[in-house]
Amino acid sequence: MGERWTPKSWRHLPIEQVPAYPDAAALSAVETQIASFPPLVFAGEARKLKAALARVAAGEAFLLQGGDCAESFDEHSADNIRDFFRVFLQMAMVLTFAGGSPVVKVGRIAGQFAKPRSSPTETLDGVSLPSYRGDIVNGIGFTEDARIPDPRRQLEAYRQSAATLNLLRAFATGGYANLENAHRWMLGFVKDSPQSSRYQDVAGRMTDALAFMRAIGINPETHPEVRTTDFYTSHEALLLGYEEAMTRVDSTTGDWYATSGHMLWIGDRTRQPDHAHVEYARGIENPIGLKCGPSMKADGLIRLIDLLNPKNEPGRLSLICRFGAEKVGEHLPGLIRAVEREGRKVVWICDPMHGNTVAAGRYKTRPFERVMQEIEGFFGVHRAEGTIAGGIHLEMTGKDVTECTGGARALTADDLQDRYHTYCDPRLNAEQALEVAFRTAELVKAERSHVERPRLDAAE
Ligand code: PEP
Ligand code: CO
Repeated sequence: MGERWTPKSWRHLPIEQVPAYPDAAALSAVETQIASFPPLVFAGEARKLKAALARVAAGEAFLLQGGDCAESFDEHSADNIRDFFRVFLQMAMVLTFAGGSPVVKVGRIAGQFAKPRSSPTETLDGVSLPSYRGDIVNGIGFTEDARIPDPRRQLEAYRQSAATLNLLRAFATGGYANLENAHRWMLGFVKDSPQSSRYQDVAGRMTDALAFMRAIGINPETHPEVRTTDFYTSHEALLLGYEEAMTRVDSTTGDWYATSGHMLWIGDRTRQPDHAHVEYARGIENPIGLKCGPSMKADGLIRLIDLLNPKNEPGRLSLICRFGAEKVGEHLPGLIRAVEREGRKVVWICDPMHGNTVAAGRYKTRPFERVMQEIEGFFGVHRAEGTIAGGIHLEMTGKDVTECTGGARALTADDLQDRYHTYCDPRLNAEQALEVAFRTAELVKAERSHVERPRLDAAE
């Protein structure tokens, strides 16, 4: 890896998961055009998220990160975004109130379009075609035409990200996220769900607390934190030509920032230390995520931390662990011990989705209990090691889909065909996502009562 970093220094290095664009000139013209577009997010916002993640690393806040596996051009409606945001706010409220911890909210949204694939081709009824790589690259339809990478899709992804982000900003600051609306966030179909009375109970207790605060002079008019929320965006930094075009110098600090989203992560398939994706990520100042699957070894992890967070800045690097329910106990302790031994400051995040995918007939699914087992295992290991379980990273939607089995309604493999809409991996539906929030809130509460706080030390 060369010493000098530039937004395009990744181009000289080996790279995985690259789409085979048939027309290099057309690709380059699109990248030039995107480089002239306004940034989607601002450096100051990315810095604010980094500071919030530093609090997560210290056990003073909990991270909720989630959204679609892959956003799609066909499902870009205000209702979809609202339903996602609403269930996300419900989950954050449950975690804040029941878990007793401030929640840092990061969506996998407004840019989560590019997908790494296990195989470059897909075969159906004896026909092999290039794999679908996300709407920013090619089409999901199983035809030769649809699967040809088309650079103009990057323009559409930029446009959709801008429109999504615009609506999210309006929801976050324009009154929708006002805590006094907590009862109204209840979704139509969640109203009659097994989670409903639990949620109404938490919302009711919070409303009482807000009434008390109002009585002592703290209200949404005087305290914007009651009326608005900080909501951040994130995606996998996979399509590096697009990311390079969106990388800009911050005029206040002179540093480089990715402006396609607040937090970018490196996928489990593209984290080779001497390859292009790590090279790109090391030079931007945003908070960075690094997916850690079963093949991640302790020495390899320390090498990646050296590259990605050489200044050991808290909040800069989050390790998004995705081992699988059965493997978390085997793999996580070694990584934690290496990080602790080397004195590295990281945020530990549990992605209980990607290690728990199973086949059910022609569908990919994830059993809800395995998702919960991985989260519980993750908290258990951190408790045993005396470290902080910082957050969860979920694939979820605000819609009533049938993609993951189990949950309070006990969806079975036979139910999957009813509403299986994902463009890539199976997502938790709104009810299942809320159930994860309730169960995780219990874990957060138990953990936080064990963590020795610096404040207590100081009082001794
Ligand atoms: C994902 O988050 O959608 C993904 C592809 O994850 P991973 O890189 O961990 O497999
Ligand atoms: Co996925």
